[in-house]
Amino acid sequence: MSRTGGGDEPLLEVRELCKYFSDGGGLLGGMTLDPEFPFLKRRHGDVRAVESVSFDINEGETLGLVGESGCGKSTLARTVLRLLEPTSGSVYFKGEDLASLSGEPLRRKRKDMQMIFQDPQSSLDPRMKVGPIVEEPMKAHGMLDEEGREARAKELLEKVGLDPQHYNRYPHAFSGGQRQRVNLARALSVNPDFIVCDEPVSALDVSIQAQVLNTMRDLQEEFDLTYLFIAHDLSVIRHISDRVAVMYLGRVVEIADKEELFENPRHPYTRALLDAIPVPDPRSEGRTALLTGDVPSPIDPPSGCRFRTRCPSLIQPAAYDMTDPEWANVVAFQRAVKRRSFEATNRTAIRDRHFADAKPRGEAGSVVDEAIGHVAAGEWAEAERLLTESFADRSVCATDEPAYEVSPTYGESRHYAACHLVRDDAVAAGEETRLPTSAGGTADGSVVGNEADD
Ligand SMILES: Nc1ncnc2c1ncn2[C@@H]1O[C@H](COP(=O)(O)OP(=O)(O)OP(=O)(O)O)[C@@H](O)[C@H]1O
Ligand code: SF4
Ligand SMILES: [Mg+2]
Repeated sequence: MSRTGGGDEPLLEVRELCKYFSDGGGLLGGMTLDPEFPFLKRRHGDVRAVESVSFDINEGETLGLVGESGCGKSTLARTVLRLLEPTSGSVYFKGEDLASLSGEPLRRKRKDMQMIFQDPQSSLDPRMKVGPIVEEPMKAHGMLDEEGREARAKELLEKVGLDPQHYNRYPHAFSGGQRQRVNLARALSVNPDFIVCDEPVSALDVSIQAQVLNTMRDLQEEFDLTYLFIAHDLSVIRHISDRVAVMYLGRVVEIADKEELFENPRHPYTRALLDAIPVPDPRSEGRTALLTGDVPSPIDPPSGCRFRTRCPSLIQPAAYDMTDPEWANVVAFQRAVKRRSFEATNRTAIRDRHFADAKPRGEAGSVVDEAIGHVAAGEWAEAERLLTESFADRSVCATDEPAYEVSPTYGESRHYAACHLVRDDAVAAGEETRLPTSAGGTADGSVVGNEADD
């Protein structure tokens, strides 16, 4: 078993880390067309893969990192390890700023930080025998003599659950699970403190996954390892993690103790992910908020909360006073218009289709009527613009970036949630509660975004 919560000392401190990729590959080479204007607008076309991410990992613990494909998990992991150069922000490993290292000192530091990838097939050289594969990092770092390396490789093969006699076999003779064990032995060979595991069991059969995860937890205990464990599958994350960070479109949106995150999720995106776990759970009855809509482009992410274009709980603008069903219909109508997902017929049919049970009155009702008129006339773009400007863009979710610390119900670890819905529960940023930094928040850990007007 891994040590719950690990030690108290952070082994890794990540602060406001950003990684952008320049999008120079397209026809326009970094320039994008703005549909709002008929002329070419010069705009920075960077892929904002990781945006202002902050978190700690304590010695001996496992931080699980979860999120949909393309949300930036691998980019974050590689940037933390300085395999990718950060655009901005800091990474402290054992208190040392990795940005201050380069050349030989950085290479030496890398010995302490290893990485295991998803595809055990392609990460093992098919022309090399397993023994030399495991010995390679030791050789690169000048560890031990030849005899010593062979003895250590055999010992490690045994530790990871393989037969030391497999030393002379080629990777193709192994199953996927066994190949991932070879990768583990290889990573362990240089005696690291920290291992980033990027979807290490995702390519394996479910029955094999649990065995490899159990071996990883045993090894963590024996070798005092700290893991950053990436997966898109929350059941795997639940199996291995002490704490969990949830990522959406480049940002960490929630971070909490594992039990707190699974029993008391506060971010609508986390809730949607939990709902998607294909495990029958009587307590999950009534949780129906499934994710709809496409993930927006990381080149031009939504303002405020990046989840707002798909969020089932978008907050209505303070200027209106709609009932919940009225607001829900407005949001659903606006998204349907954006996606052009229904046929434009006459006003009555559109009204009946989208507002049969609850249609807003007053100013909001007038906007809806006008938008329905546009759609009935085939003026989709006008309807979309009117609805977006009148409703979506005026929500606090669009105008203010959420970042809150809440009191955890389970465990002692901090619970961070980037959602304005938790602002009433946010811990006051008094001296006694102040944290060194908040994930995605301000450097002094103060709560931002809680001066919203609705
Ligand atoms: N070298 C690169 N150049 C440009 N864009 C990149 C590059 N690497 C990643 N990206 C983009 O950055 C974003 C994050 O990608 P990343 O691979 O980190 O996501 P991920 O969460 O690991 O996804 P998956 O679950 O599929 O592995 C994506 O939009 C991706 O297209
Ligand atoms: S801030 Fe708004 S859009 Fe974002 S998750 Fe919370 S309610 Fe949804
Ligand atoms: Mg990835």
